[in-house]
Amino acid sequence: GKLTALQVMRDAPVIPVIVLSDVSQAVSLARALVAGGIRMLEVTLRTPQALACIEAIARDVPEAVVGAGTVRSAADAQACAMAGARFAVSPGYTHAVGQACRDVGLALLPGVATGSEIMMAQEDGLTELKFFPAMQAGGPAMLKAWGGPFGDVRFCPTGGVSMANAAEFLALPNVACVGGSWLTPAEALARGDWAQVTALAQQACLLQRQAA
Ligand code: 3PG
Repeated sequence: GKLTALQVMRDAPVIPVIVLSDVSQAVSLARALVAGGIRMLEVTLRTPQALACIEAIARDVPEAVVGAGTVRSAADAQACAMAGARFAVSPGYTHAVGQACRDVGLALLPGVATGSEIMMAQEDGLTELKFFPAMQAGGPAMLKAWGGPFGDVRFCPTGGVSMANAAEFLALPNVACVGGSWLTPAEALARGDWAQVTALAQQACLLQRQAA
């Protein structure tokens, strides 16, 4: 069946934001994250190899649920769905991206940073949103303020989140999970240090969250 954004957010406390430029690393990296307890994987469309990486993970790592990040257009949504992505994450929200994701059956976690953007996503029926860039746009205090007028929205803060501040976000009742790139450091990928990736994923999975 079709995945929902809520299922994506509730699986693990952290959604890894992955930048891959080498297709031969995609499967090993995905397996390393799965071994550490994380199977919802956001592969960003920031490299020419991203779609091929999504395809490889969808084909060869059935334990993982691969999604695409940095989805900025209807064409991005169509391309990542064709490659086998099950969900999409976007840095902002437009009705066109929302419509394209509905059309191709992709769960969408759209980025918002203002009340107007939250209201626009809600007009299209979306109540699970990414807060981006979380630290730069107001951090935990912003999410506390949004808890009043937007009490029905669950957020995934992403951008500047790390092991040092993830717990503070996850303690908020309107935070279902966080996103971040710290589980897949460029140096670990360069070395092929999959054990380090697994260890970082295991550590992230120990984070507690409050949201129902
Ligand atoms: C990104 O833009 O790459 C994501 O939001 C992750 O941000 P981070 O590198 O600060 O975790």
